[in-house]
Amino acid sequence: MNIFQKIREYFPCVKERIFLNHAGVSPLCIPVSEAIQGYLKNKVSGEEEDFDVDSARKLFAQLINASSEEVALVPNTSTGLSIAANLLKYPRSSNVVTTDLEFPSVVYPWLRIKMSSNLEIRYVKNIEGRLRLEDFEKAVNDDTVAVVISHVEYGNGFKNDLKAIAEIAHEHGALIVVDACQSAGAMNIDVKRQEIDFLATSCYKWLLGPSGAGFLYVKRDLIEEAEPIFVGWASVKHEIFETVDLWNNTQLILSETARRFEIGTPSLLSYVGATAALELILKCGIEKIENRIMELTNYLIEKLKEDGFTIQTPQESSNRSGIVNFKASKPKEKVEKLHQKGVIVSARMNGIRVSPHFYNTKDDLERFLEYLKEIEDQPSGS
Ligand SMILES: Cc1ncc(COP(=O)(O)O)c(C=O)c1O
Repeated sequence: MNIFQKIREYFPCVKERIFLNHAGVSPLCIPVSEAIQGYLKNKVSGEEEDFDVDSARKLFAQLINASSEEVALVPNTSTGLSIAANLLKYPRSSNVVTTDLEFPSVVYPWLRIKMSSNLEIRYVKNIEGRLRLEDFEKAVNDDTVAVVISHVEYGNGFKNDLKAIAEIAHEHGALIVVDACQSAGAMNIDVKRQEIDFLATSCYKWLLGPSGAGFLYVKRDLIEEAEPIFVGWASVKHEIFETVDLWNNTQLILSETARRFEIGTPSLLSYVGATAALELILKCGIEKIENRIMELTNYLIEKLKEDGFTIQTPQESSNRSGIVNFKASKPKEKVEKLHQKGVIVSARMNGIRVSPHFYNTKDDLERFLEYLKEIEDQPSGS
């Protein structure tokens, strides 16, 4: 039995349905649900000792090649991006560069800042679903404060070359803020090699955890100069809370680590699950996971093309990810019909978005394609 067959056994959902929507909200696997149930059992029994949430921080740091001091716990990607947006300073006539393929939470925090400043937001426009480096080169200038971008675009799965974009930003003294919600847990991320300044993710998609747990990475050199807008007991130097005698309510001594961006108690229950999921991902190895996902999505693209579908996902291997999108008429109706047959995909960008994870099989994809043909053959509305 290979590792993926063994891991598939951890996912009871495969007995009920063909789940191909990890770009949405992923099903929970047995190790995650057992960890959560174990935690709940302890809590029900009145166990006082609580879960050490630092284990989640450490595992996520390991996954992205950061230090755990560079990782803050945030409930989701949107919060992480909003924190990053509000840490930066926007001098007069400054701009932020983003793209026209972004999930709303990538852009909204800066639209909010623009409401009370003259910040310019520049949109790099996609060309047939691709974001070209030359267009980032044109958009970024010495007034750019940050390039704000998803690692993998949520609609068509286009994977951006973060290192190249970071280099363009850094040449002009700008920073790069990354939404990794559609890549963390599926694609390799190395914040050092890719020269990333901020990176935020939630855990309930490719990281296979529950909702309520997320991470914000802030590059070491940026932490101490960053002043968080919201603060609470969790933002201050940890030692202050080791003994009640040291509590100091006359002075705010912020943590020297990314904890300064935390405010209060996180959802421990969510991080219990997220930790179990991270352990599974790290045990399998992110390179292996990425290769497996690529094998599945390559297969899917070939089969869809054979069946005459138009692929909306750019197909260059360096820009591919776990998301495949193909054109479809009435995609919502079709997604609903597939749902009734136990196949979970989603409707995006006038097409159908399919996002298999490492425990899916070619057989899952073939069954999806069979059902797709069946509903294609049905008269519309039936
Ligand atoms: C790229 C991207 N960012 C963020 C989110 C969601 O963010 P949050 O977890 O904060 O709700 C999604 C959800 O689909 C997404 O695709």
